Amino acid sequence: SEENKHYRPHFHFTPEKNWMNDPNGMFYYDGYYHLFFQHYPDAAVWGPMHWGHAVSRDLLHWEELPIALYPGEEGYIFSGSAVVDEENTSGFGTGNHPPVVAMYTIHDPEKEKNGQTDVETQGIAYSTDKGMTWTKYDGNPVVGNPGIRDFRDPKIVRDTIHDQWVMVLAAQDRAKFYRSGNLKNWEFLSDFGMDTGAHGGVWECPDFFPMTIEGTGETKWVLIQSLNPGGPNGGSATQYFVGDFNGTSFTLDPGFKTALDKRKAFWIDYGKDNYAGVTWSGIPDSDGRKLFIGWMSNWEYAQQVPTTTWRSAMTVPRELRLIRDGGLFLLASSPVRELESFRNKITEEQDVSLSAPFVYKSENGGGLNSTEILLSLEKTGNSIVEFRLYNTEGDTLSFGLNSVKKEFFTDRTRAGQTDFSEKFAEKASTAPRFTSSGTLDVRIVLDKTSIEVFYDSGTAAMTEIFFLKSPFDHFDIRSTDPETTLKNITIHQLKFN
Ligand code: FRU
Repeated sequence: SEENKHYRPHFHFTPEKNWMNDPNGMFYYDGYYHLFFQHYPDAAVWGPMHWGHAVSRDLLHWEELPIALYPGEEGYIFSGSAVVDEENTSGFGTGNHPPVVAMYTIHDPEKEKNGQTDVETQGIAYSTDKGMTWTKYDGNPVVGNPGIRDFRDPKIVRDTIHDQWVMVLAAQDRAKFYRSGNLKNWEFLSDFGMDTGAHGGVWECPDFFPMTIEGTGETKWVLIQSLNPGGPNGGSATQYFVGDFNGTSFTLDPGFKTALDKRKAFWIDYGKDNYAGVTWSGIPDSDGRKLFIGWMSNWEYAQQVPTTTWRSAMTVPRELRLIRDGGLFLLASSPVRELESFRNKITEEQDVSLSAPFVYKSENGGGLNSTEILLSLEKTGNSIVEFRLYNTEGDTLSFGLNSVKKEFFTDRTRAGQTDFSEKFAEKASTAPRFTSSGTLDVRIVLDKTSIEVFYDSGTAAMTEIFFLKSPFDHFDIRSTDPETTLKNITIHQLKFN
């Protein structure tokens, strides 16, 4: 269809039909990455939530499978997580055939209609066939509602340090931690966050896991915490916290806390379209990566974007790294390395002076809509460095670095259709730059309807969607400082079959 031709991404996951929001229950098992997602299979807007299901061997080609969990008498199936229960602590499987256990929020629309507060409780479901089919546990709910209206999105992690299952869920203005030995009985541990971080809306979809600080042997715990609204550029966005976990409570690292006092929040992505992202469980130790995916939209306009047969895509899967840079802890992200095997180099240049703009014109007819650009600049000084993608129809997407303000920007106000929502392209989005270095590295991932930009090794990321009738076919770079040089640039076409 025309809609598929213009808007269906080449390599970002989209549901075959109708509505999708948050990624849910991701785990890796036996060669397959599983991805579940908030899904309403009957319309292209939000509705009674199901868990849709897809699998991939390489994180980039996805096969959609039958719906994994249907709403029932008890309510809708909201966001949650899944773990491979290797030691069969739950007893749902056997030692040789470990079960996969999912935990999700049961959202009762009847109670909601009646104005009750105990609308949301937590349930579990299990699979004894490696995640292909699921059975709801007959002892649900496993966590009752404590009298909080927004009480949802449980994320389970195996805490090997304290030999327990830990679960974190979002409760309005805070994260709540629980522990379990068998994934069925959960004991409340502690609250975090009422008095710290960004609070412009409701906390949703947390994630919690240990990470080694890159280049050291030191472990910190990272709490990822989505927030809607209240993001740095409006609407939905995901913040993170770095600290320590003693098996019961999470406390901010003193250095992170000092930095947080100055900035109010650190965000995993400063663009408008990366929400409710969480990480995969079950990644083998031999791999060791922290793999993340987010929903590439924003509640401000997700239900109005100009696709009608399906709505929303996921971000490119990303690897997270924890970096300590002086007094700062930064959670950096970059596209997974699997993307690299789809590269076909189109052009490469070195040491180009930006006293005149650098201009690249795509000659392949298809334009720049399945493309990866890697570049680095030197002597950015106090300049404004602007990257532009444009086409002959007059669509322009502008992004780059404003060194004077020490910030990055993405401006989609003139990039195709924007009139479906006032909130979609009110103004350019910005992100802080965490370094004053004159050298800047940039990695850009382009699909038909999205741009994901990773600056300074991914310590500032900006993801935004757009809707064009004809693809960008030009890419240019200019700097207000004639001394700036384009040290190198490589443009790849990304080819998928
Ligand atoms: C986040 C969210 C979750 C909830 C789900 C419902 O986008 O609001 O908190 O579980 O979507 O679809």
